[in-house]
Amino acid sequence: MYILFLVLSLLSQTCFPLHTTFDTLRQGSSLSVEKPDHDVLVSPNGVFSAGFSSVGDNAFCFAIRLMKSPGTIVWMANRDQPVNGISSKLSLLKDGNLALLDVGLITLWSTETTSSSSVHLQLHNNGNLVLHNATGDRLWESFNSPTDTLLPGQKLTRDSSLVSSKSHTNYSSGYYTFYFDTDNILRLLYQSPDPAVSSVYWPDPWLRPFQTGRTTYNNRKTAFLNSTGYFWSSDDMSFSALDCGVVIHRRLKLDPDGNLRLYSFNEKNKSWVVTWQAISEPCKTHGICGPNSFCTVDHASGRKCSCLQGFEMANYPDWSYGCKPKFDNSFNDSNKETGLVYVANSEFYGYDRYYFENITLEQCQEECFRTSQCKAIQYKFDWDNSFYNCYLKSVMLNGRHSPNFDGDVYLRLPKSIINHPSQTLVKESNPDHICPDHQFDSVMLDRTYEKGHKNRFLKFLLYFASVVGAVEFTCISLVLCSLYWNRSKGIDKSTQRHMIAATRFQEFSYAELKKATKGFREEIGRGSGGIVYKGRLSDNRVAAVKLLNEANEGEAEFLTEVNTIGRLNHRNLIEMWGYCAQGKHRLLVYEYMENGSLANKLANSSTLDWQKRFGIAMGTAKGLAYLHEECLEWVLHCDVKPQNILLDSNCCPKVADFGLSKLHNISVEQNSSFSRIRGTRGYMAPEWVYNLPITSKVDVYSYGIVVLETVTGKKPTGIQASESRGMADQHGRLVTWVKEKMNGPGKRSEYWVKEIADPKMGEMFEMAELKLLVKVALQCVEEDKEARPTMGQIVEMLQRHCQEDEYSVIY
Ligand SMILES: *[C@@H]1O[C@H](CO)[C@@H](O)[C@H](O)[C@H]1NC(C)=O
Ligand SMILES: *[C@@H]1O[C@H](CO)[C@@H](O)[C@H](O)[C@H]1NC(C)=O
Ligand SMILES: *[C@@H]1O[C@H](CO)[C@@H](O)[C@H](O)[C@H]1NC(C)=O
Ligand SMILES: *[C@@H]1O[C@H](CO)[C@@H](O)[C@H](O)[C@H]1NC(C)=O
Ligand SMILES: *[C@@H]1O[C@H](CO)[C@@H](O)[C@H](O)[C@H]1NC(C)=O
Ligand SMILES: *[C@@H]1O[C@H](CO)[C@@H](O)[C@H](O)[C@H]1NC(C)=O
Ligand SMILES: *[C@@H]1O[C@H](CO)[C@@H](O)[C@H](O)[C@H]1NC(C)=O
Ligand SMILES: *[C@@H]1O[C@H](CO)[C@@H](O)[C@H](O)[C@H]1NC(C)=O
Ligand SMILES: *[C@@H]1O[C@H](CO)[C@@H](O)[C@H](O)[C@H]1NC(C)=O
Ligand SMILES: *[C@@H]1O[C@H](CO)[C@@H](O)[C@H](O)[C@H]1NC(C)=O
Ligand SMILES: *[C@@H]1O[C@H](CO)[C@@H](O)[C@H](O)[C@H]1NC(C)=O
Repeated sequence: MYILFLVLSLLSQTCFPLHTTFDTLRQGSSLSVEKPDHDVLVSPNGVFSAGFSSVGDNAFCFAIRLMKSPGTIVWMANRDQPVNGISSKLSLLKDGNLALLDVGLITLWSTETTSSSSVHLQLHNNGNLVLHNATGDRLWESFNSPTDTLLPGQKLTRDSSLVSSKSHTNYSSGYYTFYFDTDNILRLLYQSPDPAVSSVYWPDPWLRPFQTGRTTYNNRKTAFLNSTGYFWSSDDMSFSALDCGVVIHRRLKLDPDGNLRLYSFNEKNKSWVVTWQAISEPCKTHGICGPNSFCTVDHASGRKCSCLQGFEMANYPDWSYGCKPKFDNSFNDSNKETGLVYVANSEFYGYDRYYFENITLEQCQEECFRTSQCKAIQYKFDWDNSFYNCYLKSVMLNGRHSPNFDGDVYLRLPKSIINHPSQTLVKESNPDHICPDHQFDSVMLDRTYEKGHKNRFLKFLLYFASVVGAVEFTCISLVLCSLYWNRSKGIDKSTQRHMIAATRFQEFSYAELKKATKGFREEIGRGSGGIVYKGRLSDNRVAAVKLLNEANEGEAEFLTEVNTIGRLNHRNLIEMWGYCAQGKHRLLVYEYMENGSLANKLANSSTLDWQKRFGIAMGTAKGLAYLHEECLEWVLHCDVKPQNILLDSNCCPKVADFGLSKLHNISVEQNSSFSRIRGTRGYMAPEWVYNLPITSKVDVYSYGIVVLETVTGKKPTGIQASESRGMADQHGRLVTWVKEKMNGPGKRSEYWVKEIADPKMGEMFEMAELKLLVKVALQCVEEDKEARPTMGQIVEMLQRHCQEDEYSVIY
C-alpha cells in the first residue's frame, strides 16, 4: 500500500507536475517565495499563473503572469515593495485576510478582508485572482486593483486606474496614469518626479472633450476591453484592435513610455504585437525626456533625448529627471548678461508664464529679457489667424524637436555659456526608460522592407505600372489585396462603426457616392489602383472619389488599411474624408484639390514662380518626412512623382497616393515577367532595378528627381544626355544632364544655374536657393542609398538655409 502510494506520488510529480493542477489556495495555507516553480496557482484553462516573480537581486513580487509568455506580468500585489527571497510567503490567514509576509513576518500587503466562514483564493480563467467565501461571494478580486494592465473582461472604474511601471525592467509605479478624470473623461496623465509638475497629454489637452468625440455627461465611469479586441468607455471613447474579431490573448497596457497600447499574442513566434496605441507620435508623450531637454523622433530607435545647450543630464541614465543647468538660471539680476539661442522647429508644451498675440520677434524678445522667470521663448505661427504668437516659458518641459513643427524656440542663456561652444555640447541618447528596441517585449509594426518583402513589392509595382502604362494623376492607390481573406470572417458591421468612431472619418454608402459623383461621370484621374472622379458630397464639400479596382480587396484588410491612413494627418498630405466598403465596392473619398498637380503646373505656362517652387520642394519634403519618420505606423510612399503632388489654392503641396507600402501579400506578382524598367519611369530608385532591399531611401531618390524637375522644368526622361551608360542610366538622364551643366563650361561663372533653371521663370529666381535645391537633389539621387540623406535631414537642410540670413544668437 505504502509502495503504491509512493509510485503514484512519483508519477504525479513527474508526469503531472503539481503546479499545473492548483487553481485554489485554501484557508491556512500559503505560497512560498522559496519554491517559485512549485508554489503557483494556475487558472483551470492553463493560461494564467500566479506566483512569485523575481524583480531584482533578492527581490520578489507576487504576480499574475501569462503561462505562454512568462515575462508578461499582468498584475502585481506589491510592485513598490518587493519581498525578500527567504521565508517570504503569501498566506491565506484564518481570519480571512490574504497577506504577503516579508521574511514570513512583516505584512507588506494584504487584502484587508475578514470572514467568519471559510475562504479560498482562486485564479480564474480570465486572469482574475478572486477571494471567495463559503457561499461563493467575492470578498476581493485582483481585477479591482489593476497595476498597468487591463485584461479582456476587466473593468476600469472610477476607483481604479492603470499606472505605468518605471521601466521595462523595474515594475515599481512610474510616471504615467490612465484614469477617469473628475469630468468623466478617460485620460492619460504625466506626473513628474517633481510633485509640482503634472499634465494631461491624451486626449490632446488643447481640444475640448466633444472635439475628440468624448462626452462628459456620462457619470458611470466604466471602461472595458473585450476578448475580440473592442474597447469601450462611458465617455464614448471606443476603438477596435487592428486584428479585431479573432479571439486570442490580448492586454491593454500603459507602457513605461506613457503610451497606452493594445497587444495581441502571436502564437507562432510567442511575441506580442501592437494592435492599437493611443499616441502615434512618440515625442508627444509629456515628460518623456524630463525637463530642459528635447525629444527627437529617431527612425532607428523610436526617439532620442538630448539636453539643451548649457544643460547636463541630472540623473544618468534616467531621463525622467531630465537635465540640469550648468549655470545659475534665476535670471533676476543679470538681464544684461543673457542672450537668446535660436532652436528651429521646436516646442515646449505648457508652463507659459506670459502669452502675447500677434507680436514681432523683437518685441517678444524684449518681453523675455524683462521677465526674470522667462527661461525661453516659444515663437509660433498661428495658422488660423496668420500671425505669430509669443509664449514666455518659466519651465522648459515637454520639449520636442520636429522638422514639422511650425514654431521655434529661443533659449535664454548666460552669455558666458553662449560664448563657449565647448560648454554647449549636446548630449544625445535614448531615454533609458523607454528603450523601444532592446527592452521592448513586443514587436512594433514593420519598419524596413528587407529581403523577402522586396520581391513581392517590386513585382507588384511593376505589375501595376505595366498595366496602366504611363500613369497619370492618381489620387490614392490603396490597393489592399487579400485574396486569401475569408470574407465570411470579415469584420462585421458593428465593428466597422467602431473603427469609424475611432478614426473620425466617415463611412459612405455606395449609393451616396454614386449620387455624389453623378454616376461616376466626371473623371479627373486614372491611377494604379483605380479611377478618380470628382464629386459633391451631401454636405456640399467637393471631393475626389477613387473607385478602386474591384479585383482583390478583402474587407477586413481594407478597413485596417483605411484606418491606418485615415489617422495620418499632416498639412502636406492629402486628407482622407472617408471610404466605402460595400459588397464588392471599395471607394476612398479625399479632399479635392482645385489646382491640380505639380505635373500640370510644370507643364503649363508660367504659373509657378520661384518662391512657389521652393515652397513645393519644402512642403513635399515635410510631408514625406512625416510619413517616414514621425508616424509610428510607418509608411513608404514608393511612387513619388509630380503627378502625386497636388497643390491647394496657395500652392501648398499635398502628397497623394501614399499607403501603398503596407501591402501584405501580393498574389498577382507571382507570374510577372515584365521588364524591370517599367514602373513610373524616371522616378524609380536603382534599388528597384538591381533588386536591392527597399527602404525609405527609394522615396528620397524619387524626391530628388522631382526637385530637379521642379527646378529645371524638364521631365526626367525627356532629355538626351550625351553620355549613355546603359539601362540603369535611362532614368538618370536628367541627373546626368544637370551634372554636365554644373561641370561644363559654365562651372566657374555660375552660368550653369541659368542654363538649368526652367526658362519659364525667366531670370526670376533666387540663385542661392536654386543652388541649394540642386545640391540637395543630387545627394538624394546618389546610386548608393546610404549616401542619400533622410527626408528629415532634407527638411533641415532646406530650413537651415532659410534661417541663415537671420541671426542664430541674439544679444
Ligand atoms: C526601481 O525604481 C525604484 C525607484 O527609482 C528604485 O527604488 C528601485 O530600487 C528600482 N528597483 C529595481 C529592481 O531596480
Ligand atoms: C459571504 O459574503 C457575503 C457578502 O459579504 C455575505 O453576505 C455572506 O453572508 C458571506 N457568506 C458566509 C458564509 O459568510
Ligand atoms: C466585443 O464587443 C463587440 C462590440 O460590441 C461585439 O461585437 C463582440 O461580439 C464582443 N466580443 C465578445 C467576445 O463579447
Ligand atoms: C511574429 O509574427 C508576427 C506576425 O507574423 C510578426 O509581425 C512579428 O514580427 C514576429 N515577431 C518576431 C519576433 O519574429
Ligand atoms: C535671485 O533669485 C534667487 C532665487 O530665486 C535668489 O536666491 C537670489 O537672492 C536672487 N538675487 C537677487 C539679486 O535678487
Ligand atoms: C497684427 O498686427 C499687425 C501690426 O500691428 C496688424 O496690422 C494686424 O492687423 C494684426 N493682425 C490681426 C489679425 O490682428
Ligand atoms: C470561409 O468561411 C466559411 C464559413 O465560415 C467556411 O465554410 C469556408 O470553408 C471558409 N473558407 C476558407 C477558405 O477558409
Ligand atoms: C493650363 O492652365 C490653364 C488655366 O489655369 C488651364 O485651363 C489649362 O488646362 C492648363 N493646361 C495644362 C496643360 O494643364
Ligand atoms: C488655384 O485655385 C484657386 C481657387 O480655385 C484659384 O483662384 C487660383 O487662381 C488657382 N491658382 C492657380 C495658380 O491656378
Ligand atoms: C501569401 O500568399 C501565399 C500564396 O501566394 C500564401 O501561401 C501565404 O500564406 C500568404 N501569406 C500571408 C501572410 O497571407
Ligand atoms: C504563370 O503563368 C503560366 C501561364 O500563364 C501558368 O502556366 C503558371 O501556372 C503560372 N504560375 C503561377 C505561379 O501562377
